[in-house]
Amino acid sequence: MMADPVDGSAPKTPEYKLVPHRDFYLISGIHSPEEIDQIQKWEIRDTDIFIITYPKSGTIWLQQIVSMIEVRGNVTATLDQLNAIRIPWMEMNVGEEFANAPSPRLRVTHLHYKFIPLGLKQKRGKVIYVARNPKDIMVSYFHFHIYANMLETPKDFNSFFERFMEGKVFGNCWFEHIKAWYSHRQEMNFLYITYEDLIQDLSAAVDRICVFLERDLTAQEKENVVKHSTFQNMRKNPTANYQAMPSHFNHDKGHFMRKGMVGDWKNYFTVAQNERFDQAFQEKMRDLPLTFVWEIN
Ligand code: A3P
Repeated sequence: MMADPVDGSAPKTPEYKLVPHRDFYLISGIHSPEEIDQIQKWEIRDTDIFIITYPKSGTIWLQQIVSMIEVRGNVTATLDQLNAIRIPWMEMNVGEEFANAPSPRLRVTHLHYKFIPLGLKQKRGKVIYVARNPKDIMVSYFHFHIYANMLETPKDFNSFFERFMEGKVFGNCWFEHIKAWYSHRQEMNFLYITYEDLIQDLSAAVDRICVFLERDLTAQEKENVVKHSTFQNMRKNPTANYQAMPSHFNHDKGHFMRKGMVGDWKNYFTVAQNERFDQAFQEKMRDLPLTFVWEIN
């Protein structure tokens, strides 16, 4: 078991705290370790779809895209429901609710591979893993810690850099998260897609997701999916951007739809931090054939 992670700082709302469970930090008051341990036993249907991300990799973006695909681009069919309700969190959704939900069941999670429903490894259901340049994740996560009530506000970016490198955050170590999921990809029906793919060509990314999900949308329907999944439109749409989530976020201090760009890390990392990060990346990712887009000109 890991030691208590939080280095003296405290969450803004005291009932929430990072608590290690099977070497993975959960947030007490939000996640139940007992419920999470039941997830492996969830009965999986072929029609189930899981979006898996490390925090700040574009989770709400995929929630929006996939739920828009499910309604064939008809945005009015989504406007009475927040995307967190259209595609609920696996780690906050009790098993009974999941078992009784109608197909197709869509879920999203930040959990580590070790907690997954075992049925996924029998190639039931579909998994979309969204990855993002970890340097941009770190910057986005730093800001998230400032406005998320369940997380402590970091003293500054430098202290957050250290916490992230040590994996002392919800989601744990980025390297371990992606390595575990990606190295087991062949066990599952698995689509690997990156935030940068979406930035570079959203329309092509929507095509790939439709093919993977076996959803045959018309060109016009796909165009509508794309239109309602752009940064500008999601920023304006309170059902797509978590703005309407009441208690968990202080939106006076930040926004889920912050910058939506590639390469913001360059505004935060010092040269020394960048060198350290690159070295850690080379060491820890040595066995994985993955590259990341550090910037887009
Ligand atoms: P930034 O903080 O870098 O702006 P998550 O949903 O996993 O918490 O990720 C949030 C990040 O995804 C934020 O990154 C947010 O701006 C970005 N994001 C969400 N929707 C997006 C979109 N439609 N286009 C570009 N970026 C988007």
